[in-house]
Amino acid sequence: MSTVQVDTPGGSYPIHIGAGRLDLLAQSIPDDATAIALVSNPTVDALYGQRVRAALEATGKRLIFIELPDGEAHKNWETLNLIFDGLLQNRLDRKAVLVALGGGVIGDMGGFAAASYMRGIRFVQVPTTLLSQVDSSVGGKTGINHPLGKNMVGAFYQPIAVEIDTDVLKTLPAREISAGLAEVIKYGLIIDADFFVWCEQNVDALRTLEPQAITYAIQRSCELKAYVVSQDERESGLRAILNFGHTFGHAIEAGLGYGAWLHGEAVGCGMVQAAELSALTMGLTSASVERVRALTQAIGCPVQPPDLGVDRWIELMQVDKKTEGGKLRFVLLPEIGQARFEAAEPDALRHVLEKTTIVQV
Ligand code: NAD
Ligand code: GLY
Repeated sequence: MSTVQVDTPGGSYPIHIGAGRLDLLAQSIPDDATAIALVSNPTVDALYGQRVRAALEATGKRLIFIELPDGEAHKNWETLNLIFDGLLQNRLDRKAVLVALGGGVIGDMGGFAAASYMRGIRFVQVPTTLLSQVDSSVGGKTGINHPLGKNMVGAFYQPIAVEIDTDVLKTLPAREISAGLAEVIKYGLIIDADFFVWCEQNVDALRTLEPQAITYAIQRSCELKAYVVSQDERESGLRAILNFGHTFGHAIEAGLGYGAWLHGEAVGCGMVQAAELSALTMGLTSASVERVRALTQAIGCPVQPPDLGVDRWIELMQVDKKTEGGKLRFVLLPEIGQARFEAAEPDALRHVLEKTTIVQV
């Protein structure tokens, strides 16, 4: 087991990474917790619910279960309310602890519910997808989607612990592994060129979940994310670089309808578009753009964006938290391993957006 420590003004907590962590979840429940609310969905519950219940029952505390429907399309107010219904119907008090067991959708909604129930109860992230293990469970961004924009309603709220069981990745569909690897290579692109090279050299081991390779990738990703959020918890500066590829990616998700492309797939394709924009405006070499495209393709993500129409692309991208005063701003790369946050040059952006294709959804 390895531990990565996250230290932010909003809270300090460990990320435990290792095989079999699910069976040890009781270690993350504080002694003074009055009850535990386990939040998950039917897919994850069928696979791991029994084990997690057994682990949490070892605390001797009252355990309630709240089941949410599975999928990005349910990351909304209606589903969030199911958590509040469960907490209130069972009369959980301020000292209850919420445990979010699932991918990023469960983690983001569970975290937002914990942030707002009785103005804040403690919560533990138990991420079960690669994407949630390397990104969404760390750093305290929680929230839901609005029909007009992705993750537009939410809160910064840190968990008290993140428990990453690397074994659970074995039941993930290959497409979900690819989507998670997009966020892994993102860290190399924005902050650690050596890690990007390591990913290029280990892409087959990563895709087949070779234990040493995938554990190292998760640990390095968590270290890099912990470093960034400890400098800038609430995204007033540096943290924005974690959104590399996301302005394009969020437009793909909203434009095609949430769930048509996986979040990580949209981010992977968006990183290729952001690299192309970086070449036009930041001097990123065409060889580097090709490395971004080649690795994104090698991990199994789409590299050809959908044809949303240039005006629709721009309209969708304007509903982005990085937009300021109506100006679109992007995370761009002067070179691999370095990121800057800049306003887009309209002509360069249009040029990139014209390189799209028709996709059937
Ligand atoms: P997801 O939560 O929808 O999970 C993907 C699918 O895998 C779901 O059907 C889920 O039930 C299933 N699943 C989960 N664990 C499994 C397992 N071990 N075996 C088999 N199936 C399993 O998707 P995701 O990619 O984990 O998360 C995407 C979400 O995360 C998006 O809503 C995105 O906005 C959010 N996100 C948040 C942050 C953040 O900082 N908070 C960062 C990145 C992404
Ligand atoms: N995934 C972007 C962030 O956590 O800031």
